[in-house]
Amino acid sequence: LFQSHIDLAHTIWEKIVRPGDTVVDATSGNGHDTLALAKMALTKNEGRLFALDLQKDALASCETKLREHLADPILSRVKLLEQCHSQFPEEIKPGTVSLIVYNLGYLPGGDKSKTTKADTTLQSLQKALLLIQEGGCISITCYPGHSEGLLEEEKLLDFAMQLDPSRFSICHHRWVNRKKSPSLLLIQRSSANY
Ligand SMILES: C[S@@+](CC[C@H](N)C(=O)[O-])C[C@H]1O[C@@H](n2cnc3c(N)ncnc32)[C@H](O)[C@@H]1O
Repeated sequence: LFQSHIDLAHTIWEKIVRPGDTVVDATSGNGHDTLALAKMALTKNEGRLFALDLQKDALASCETKLREHLADPILSRVKLLEQCHSQFPEEIKPGTVSLIVYNLGYLPGGDKSKTTKADTTLQSLQKALLLIQEGGCISITCYPGHSEGLLEEEKLLDFAMQLDPSRFSICHHRWVNRKKSPSLLLIQRSSANY
């Protein structure tokens, strides 16, 4: 559990997501996380998954991965969107999403100029907060090992620290003895009976 930031994030997602939920992958890339979310949230008849990425090629490889692993009825519940995550599709209604995930930075082996940027990520996070249902969560994997990633992590943390603690529970996980390792920022909307 404590070895890989991806395993850590997925373990937490499994605690939040139930079959039939609506979930969003805001940086779908090659679709490793998108596939994990599909397996958690989608059934033949229920659940929605929206996967966003700026890069056409990344979405194409995400689609190939999903087609390899998912049956058609489940696949039909996934929407792949070539767009910036600073806007979410209007069909996602406020307070209806159980999990929104960000895996920031650039695609390993891909074009490093297509990295997420602090300003748009922050803009996106502000909108994502409105979409999350009670008890739902936003999961953000940050990569402070490169300079844009460090700035992005700082801005997100500064913003998150200002959020009302009666409305959101927020924690930040990092490996304190590994330099340049990724970190995980988790923002959970409180339940009504919290
Ligand atoms: C670290 S990769 C994601 C890896 C992915 N989760 C996976 O499992 O393969 C980050 C992705 O964010 C995308 N991206 C960068 N800026 C974006 C933006 N403003 N909106 C949406 N996607 C963006 C990049 O194109 C890249 O594919």
